[in-house]
Amino acid sequence: MLTCEWTKDDGWLAPKIIPYQNLSLDPATCVFHYAFECFEGMKAYKDTKGQIRLFRPDKNMERMNKSAARIALPTFNPTALTDLIGTFVKMESRHIPEKRGYSLYLRPTLIGTQKTLGVGAPGSALLFVIASPVGPYYPTGFKAVSLEATDWAVRAWPGGVGDKKLGANYAPCIVPQQQAASRGFQQNLWLFGEEEYVTEVGTMNMFAAIRNKETGQKELVTAPLDGTILEGVTRDSVLSLAREKLAPEGWIISERKYTMQELDEASRDGRLIEAFGSGTAAVVSPIRTISWRGKTVSCGLAENEETGEVATKMKQWIEARQYGDEEHQWSHVC
Ligand SMILES: Cc1ncc(COP(=O)(O)O)c(C=O)c1O
Repeated sequence: MLTCEWTKDDGWLAPKIIPYQNLSLDPATCVFHYAFECFEGMKAYKDTKGQIRLFRPDKNMERMNKSAARIALPTFNPTALTDLIGTFVKMESRHIPEKRGYSLYLRPTLIGTQKTLGVGAPGSALLFVIASPVGPYYPTGFKAVSLEATDWAVRAWPGGVGDKKLGANYAPCIVPQQQAASRGFQQNLWLFGEEEYVTEVGTMNMFAAIRNKETGQKELVTAPLDGTILEGVTRDSVLSLAREKLAPEGWIISERKYTMQELDEASRDGRLIEAFGSGTAAVVSPIRTISWRGKTVSCGLAENEETGEVATKMKQWIEARQYGDEEHQWSHVC
């Protein structure tokens, strides 16, 4: 594991790479009481030449600094941490499987370590990075998921911290997820407000491909970054690729609010082409149905289909850059 301590007086101390081990913390440490914790999720990939690559690490560093700053934890030099992670993954190279779909999952984490029950900005912190090899999310090919729209809880709200990757945002999401699972749904869908805006799916951003009612034009839509949406690295990559490759084919690419009502209407008219979640774990996760207000909204896949065209292409395009098949500025060779 990579570790780096910070104190208010001395700033960041010398980083270390040490054997994976328990942390020893006083029970009064502020992380246990007031949730001074933020984290990132990213992956290291091995290309066909055996080089190790990170995918858009600058985005993860930027997001982690935003998360840290919001909860009074220290920020860090993004390039320095990317370089440290590069050194770490090169040391752990043997744990990065070479096969397509496999990678080394990295979990940079930052916690407040001050021993105090007083509520205030931590005077000390610990940044650590742990890692684990991971395999393909869908080992036997895509498997479209069925969602349940949660109608009694919201994940995030304007002025809140749902756009930050704080541990405190995740624990409250488990019960709605368990409830959806108990009724046979793989994920829950987060809505917001009386308008029932579609926001995120489980711990992924959400995309829908809809054909316009009047013009017939195809639109790829995702919720805007209004403070209630996590700024997904995959979301940003999907949007960039869509603007690069789908817009010239006549697609409209939109970051705008859209409602469950709009999806339901498009579905009933046969205009909902497909829907998918996006995130580091699966890249894209095709959606078959959404259970909402007691009805089942079908998301455009035929019974024998597990994915739509856009989700399939996005996965290929993104993986080509992650694994360095296509040389691109998003891929950072360590
Ligand atoms: C709530 C939430 N939304 C979206 C995402 C997707 O973000 P990314 O594409 O950076 O993995 C994640 C996963 O990190 C998440 O936890």
